Amino acid sequence: MIIDVVTIFPAMVEALLMDGIVSRARTAGLVEVKARDLRDFTDDRHRVVDDGPYGGGPGMVLKAEPLFRAIEAIVAERGAPSAVVLLTPQGQPLTHAMAARFAQMDRLILLCGRYEGIDERVADAFVTDEVSIGDYVLTGGELPALVVMDAVVRLVPGVVGDEESVTADSFVRGLLDHPHYTRPAVCRDRAVPDVLMSGNHGAIEKWRARQRVARTRDRRPELLHGADLTREERAALDELLKADAEAPASQKQ
Ligand code: 6GU
Repeated sequence: MIIDVVTIFPAMVEALLMDGIVSRARTAGLVEVKARDLRDFTDDRHRVVDDGPYGGGPGMVLKAEPLFRAIEAIVAERGAPSAVVLLTPQGQPLTHAMAARFAQMDRLILLCGRYEGIDERVADAFVTDEVSIGDYVLTGGELPALVVMDAVVRLVPGVVGDEESVTADSFVRGLLDHPHYTRPAVCRDRAVPDVLMSGNHGAIEKWRARQRVARTRDRRPELLHGADLTREERAALDELLKADAEAPASQKQ
């Protein structure tokens, strides 16, 4: 997979790619990532990439021409991209399903917005997907582009060694994950739950299923409606719902 990132801060993108999963995937030759400096596609002495908005108002807009040139140069070098993704708070919220769709692609172009946004003509001409990473405003699309890359690259086959750790993840089935513990058995007077030390795999799986369902119900109840539950999880949910129904009204919130 080839990912080209168009940004006015290429050093910021490269710096964060020095470590971690994307870096390992690059070293292994599974993905190629290249940060493209938008200023390299200007033609004036001051390398200006932004301008005030037509119609007036605050802030600056990324100019169309450098973005057109940057995309055209990438297409000339790499061939047609599978998707051109604009990172913007106006985009669709990033989900696991979206990351899995991008992970199937050969060539991605990520456009990092800045200021008030980009000239809409670039979006009209080239952008296939507009993506946001949540309902808060950041100063630019660079951190979101890195978030998208991390989520996508770890789903490229071979990047994460243990395939089970990817398929068992939170959100793959629409459920939060159960708690995890590692050695020692007691730390600062806090013990690991007995069941995990029991060696009883049936009991362990039942406990974990119950933890996943209870956590999801407590923290993200809206996820439960779309969740794809295993038999253990379905049984745990039925038990929790039954306990809720039987709880005295004074215990209900
Ligand atoms: Cl993709 N960009 C910016 N500037 N802010 C954001 C965002 C993106 N997603 C959430 N907030």
